[in-house]
Amino acid sequence: MKKRLLAALMAGAMALSLTACGGGSDANTTTDSSAQAEGATDAGTTAKIGVSMPTQSLQRWNQDGTNMKQQLETAGYQVDLQYAGDNDIPTQVSQIENMISGDCDALVIAAIDGSALTEALKGAKEKNIPVISYDRLIMNSDAVSYYATFDNYKVGTMQGEYIRDALDLDNAAGPFNIELVTGAPDDNNVNFFFGGAMDILQPYIDSGKLVVPSGQTEKAQCATANWSTEEAQKRFENIITSVGYGPDAKKLDAVLCSNDSTSYGVQNALLAAGYNKDNMPVITGQDCDKPNVKNIIAGVQSMSIFKDTRTLADATVKMVDAIIKGTAPEVNDTETYDNGTGVIPSYLCDPVFADKDNYKSILIDSGYYTEADLA
Ligand code: BGC
Repeated sequence: MKKRLLAALMAGAMALSLTACGGGSDANTTTDSSAQAEGATDAGTTAKIGVSMPTQSLQRWNQDGTNMKQQLETAGYQVDLQYAGDNDIPTQVSQIENMISGDCDALVIAAIDGSALTEALKGAKEKNIPVISYDRLIMNSDAVSYYATFDNYKVGTMQGEYIRDALDLDNAAGPFNIELVTGAPDDNNVNFFFGGAMDILQPYIDSGKLVVPSGQTEKAQCATANWSTEEAQKRFENIITSVGYGPDAKKLDAVLCSNDSTSYGVQNALLAAGYNKDNMPVITGQDCDKPNVKNIIAGVQSMSIFKDTRTLADATVKMVDAIIKGTAPEVNDTETYDNGTGVIPSYLCDPVFADKDNYKSILIDSGYYTEADLA
């Protein structure tokens, strides 16, 4: 079995099949003509996949875990799904160690701290257990075989573009006041979310069309530990007070928020300072969490990036399936994601944005939410 996995990984490294995201082939499709039974190892046993998720306190990771488990089981695999408490790094490390000692045939990991798994994954490497980095890139480990995620840079540029277009920065006189909020500094995705958004917004800051009155423009200043709503709210309350923002005071035109949990904290701070749907700044988000979509409908949040967790689970299950069956998984990016040991072949899914004008078709017609979920 392990020899076969190694062969698959080498085949994958040598013959990367570059394809577009969103292909609709069945999860059990394989290019290997001597295909095994669903989810079966070459020893004829059912392969076991360890799935490690960071927290159950955010809606998206619950959905990710549920989708992964369902789709892997449908493809015939056994699944060991573990959540690491509420973003508890030692818990995640020991859960992964147990998956390795419990002889999982492959690991799918959404890391809390991308750099905290180097030691734990040495065991996976020794036992030739392939590791797929899920959504967030695991750094500094040569045990990582593949990466399945959304186009994280595009998430950032879409947020920046939304603000640019909403304020009509290319035509309006301005200047406009903006503040910047991003996520956990130990999450590699932040580099892409914040970097992508700033690639769009920085030229307007440089020209003076956009002003950041708090002066907090560095990624480290705008970071939010653990993507915590409470931390984002506290930081924003301080900014409101120190800059003197208010519905009848200094005007705030936009807040770049890298995701929904931080965006929710910012919205709480603004609502408490007297803002309402009629005078809220443009506020971005990511994930289309239910409370945030409700706020979009209510006019409190402007937009959120929709990353359909069903699509990511589908792409990841196909990767797992290919590896277990000894074939090369599909990837569509072999340049962007270097984890410190080299570029990790990646499969990037496409994000889209949702706002009050299109959320029904994107979120309800697609079956992601029901009307009742958002009522
Ligand atoms: C994910 C986002 C999520 C954030 C907080 C990021 O790594 O890509 O979708 O909002 O973590 O959980």
